Amino acid sequence: MTQPLRFAVIGQPIAHSLSPTIHAAFARQRGIVLEYTAIEAGPEALAETLERFDGHGANITLPHKVAAFGLCASTTERARRARAVNTLTRTAEGWEGDNTDGSGLVRDLTERRRLDLRGRRVLLLGAGGAAQGVAPLLLDAGIDEMVVVNRSPERADALCSALGDPARAHSRYWDDLRGLGDFEMIVNATSAGRATGQFDIPFSLPSPRCLAVDLSYGEAAVPFLAWARAAGCVDVVDGLGMLVEQAADSFARWHGVRPDTEAVYAMLRAREDALVTAD
Ligand code: ATR
Repeated sequence: MTQPLRFAVIGQPIAHSLSPTIHAAFARQRGIVLEYTAIEAGPEALAETLERFDGHGANITLPHKVAAFGLCASTTERARRARAVNTLTRTAEGWEGDNTDGSGLVRDLTERRRLDLRGRRVLLLGAGGAAQGVAPLLLDAGIDEMVVVNRSPERADALCSALGDPARAHSRYWDDLRGLGDFEMIVNATSAGRATGQFDIPFSLPSPRCLAVDLSYGEAAVPFLAWARAAGCVDVVDGLGMLVEQAADSFARWHGVRPDTEAVYAMLRAREDALVTAD
């Protein structure tokens, strides 16, 4: 019998990760035999966990995307631009790191939802691993300007200087949000919703055609999405579509074939809706 290829998602907390379900569904679709598990590891245990895990590939989720970048033997160009990884592939030299978050987000917005990102003035809230992953790809998608605001301003500065596009990407202080004008796209890449259960930023930020995106989904996305609806954003999107698309890009890297994401997205969306209705 063929031994299943082994994969895992590594993060903390990890118990509610949808990645095992998504990869199992993709594998069934493509007739691939694999085992995909969730491994809980805190920051102090990441290096040892990666050393011990002898599978073919791994997804890296919060809070490890930046730290895992430093543990890779090699990295793809988009991982280097992000300085963060979410996809590891075993090579003879060690782990190769890639980042599929940005391509996953842009595909969800432009292909699934048919939203045109070109020319938008974008506010990116947060400057951690998730923000680093999506920022370069948003610039590539043709946005006009990106203002990065983070609770710790030095991280926003570091993200902007790494992007190397001073004409379009610059940082501002969180306390100055009220004076920044309005935006056609606001992306929440902070973990504030998870941490505090609330989101309190000025209602003056969205322009009349604003798209609001939270990179997380489920309970963690509720505070920002509630703020976005109350503030009058026209399109309000959580990170579930991005999650499925970034997983599909990881799957394609490991197996050489891209799965069909629509059926898997529909299944997870129905499940999410049922959970919200049940609350
Ligand atoms: P991730 O991989 O999810 O980006 P991370 O690298 O730990 O995880 O980054 C978390 C992000 O959420 C950071 O931008 C963090 O701000 P700091 O850099 O100042 O820590 C932001 N964040 C977390 N809790 C927050 C809160 N209560 N209010 C605002 N921003 C918060």
